[in-house]
Amino acid sequence: MRLWKTTLSLASGAMMAIAILSNGPAAAQSGEVDWEKQPYIIKDGKVDYGTYNGFRRYHSFCHVCHGPDAMGSSYAPALKDSLNAMTYDEFLEVVVNGRENLSAGKESVMPAFAEAEDVMLYIDHIYAYLKARANDEVGRGRPKRLPADDDPVFQEWKASQ
Ligand code: HEC
Repeated sequence: MRLWKTTLSLASGAMMAIAILSNGPAAAQSGEVDWEKQPYIIKDGKVDYGTYNGFRRYHSFCHVCHGPDAMGSSYAPALKDSLNAMTYDEFLEVVVNGRENLSAGKESVMPAFAEAEDVMLYIDHIYAYLKARANDEVGRGRPKRLPADDDPVFQEWKASQ
């Protein structure tokens, strides 16, 4: 939670909503698995609403630099691999604040997304998708979605609307 304080000082209203939304998928799976390690539900090769939405958001906002399906590019690292070595807090820290690598001969910039609502509101979904890729539980391309009736993450999201 230490990180949300940083986030909240960067922006206000929208970030509150994120803090609330972040509890969604965690609550849906609490007691069964550690959400940080497995923030997704996959049954018969079909993914929950959050993971699917994460796939879509990733391909709207991240893939131009990080490559399709989180495979990386010459400009930015493969998040499929990065997520094996990063905690959720570390992931969030980079996305919120961005990062610059200005070492000799290299100028790569990870933009700060703190003010990008379309990203921050769904950052747990993007995390879920990337973590599923890192764990090799979701392949390349668009994943199939669980039917709404069989998807606790979707049910919870619907109830919160
Ligand atoms: C304009 C290009 C660009 C976009 C768009 C972008 N990134 Fe990045 N990102 C980078 C670069 C470049 C780095 C490496 C920075 C460095 O070398 O320190 C990076 C690093 C990262 C890292 C750290 C990876 C590691 O191995 O340490 C994460 C996590 C990350 N980005 C997530 C995202 C997410 C999530 C999105 C979409 C919401 C996104 N990025 C969009 C360019 C981008």
